[in-house]
Amino acid sequence: MPGSSVAGMTDAIVVEGLVKRFGATTALDGVDLTVAEGSVLGLLGPNGAGKTTVVRILTTLLAADEGRAEVAGLDVVRDADEVRAAIGLTGQYAAVDEYLTGFENLEMVGRLYRLPKTEARARAGELLERFDLVGAANRPAKTYSGGMRRRLDIAASLINRPRVLFLDEPTTGLDPRSRLAMWEFIAELADGGTTILLTTQYLEEADRLADRMVVIDRGQVIARGTADELKAQVGGERLEFTVTDAAALPTMVEALRPLGVDEPNVDVASRRFSMPVSGGADVLAEALRRLDGATAQIFDIGLRRPDLDDVFLALTGHAAEDVATDDEQPAEPAVSGGVR
Ligand SMILES: Nc1ncnc2c1ncn2[C@@H]1O[C@H](COP(=O)(O)OP(=O)(O)OP(=O)(O)O)[C@@H](O)[C@H]1O
Ligand SMILES: [Mg+2]
Repeated sequence: MPGSSVAGMTDAIVVEGLVKRFGATTALDGVDLTVAEGSVLGLLGPNGAGKTTVVRILTTLLAADEGRAEVAGLDVVRDADEVRAAIGLTGQYAAVDEYLTGFENLEMVGRLYRLPKTEARARAGELLERFDLVGAANRPAKTYSGGMRRRLDIAASLINRPRVLFLDEPTTGLDPRSRLAMWEFIAELADGGTTILLTTQYLEEADRLADRMVVIDRGQVIARGTADELKAQVGGERLEFTVTDAAALPTMVEALRPLGVDEPNVDVASRRFSMPVSGGADVLAEALRRLDGATAQIFDIGLRRPDLDDVFLALTGHAAEDVATDDEQPAEPAVSGGVR
């Protein structure tokens, strides 16, 4: 049975009440989510939130303790083989065979998907071209840079033209140019009708690619919606500026506080002032009047709309790029490029 229908849309991914425990750790504590066919879901959350665990359960690599999940209308436990044939997976850690060349890696994955030899080779060539790896096609993957491995890994997950694609932090470790190129590939795949579940620590990435987002923390969904809906939850605009001398900040805070709709936030280390306001340009003009004659110089002053980083901070209490120190990540099993 395909997933439930809303206004004629079918869900390509349906997750209900997923619970997963590792000893005393509850990695997932009742996660529900759906992803409409042909759409992109961004699964966000701090380190250790449970994102990779969700991906591993949906890609049949791990069994849940409670709950159920369907991918492409198939049950991930009962129909595991069919699920594997329908999906692609790029795991959080690149998993390419070091000793095979780029071409051989892709050809091998194609053969594992039971493509005839000529087709596997043709598809490998196509993907090498698409991911800008033609020049390195005949070099062993161990000579590839991190970004090249990542691209090869993602190419491998597309060999079987999956209907549903799982990307666990697809652009971590890529330089800005490669990241932009990867965003274009992902957007193209989405435009072509592939359903994508993407985890990321880069909120700009989610903002750009995802139709909807689910934010999880400690194994529970703490927010969901479009980027605009999530931003609206955090509230309106903020007055922000930086000063040359932090010593001037307390006086400024006193002068500006009456203009705020909430308490100002002052970061002495970065000499930054930030305060929620409403009233747009008038407030900015009034703030400048009140700051006239201030002892320190002010730069970068302006009104800023909340971005997803603010949302994340408000929801989870820490920034997306904060690295968790209390629980280290277990090593990922060597699986990628579809389930081998
Ligand atoms: N195989 C395992 N054995 C024990 N604990 C595990 C295992 N896999 C995950 N965990 C724990 O489950 C929790 C969720 O881990 P998971 O890898 O799903 O987080 P994540 O959201 O992907 O984090 P990150 O952003 O760091 O990749 C963590 O506390 C983690 O330590
Ligand atoms: Mg992870």
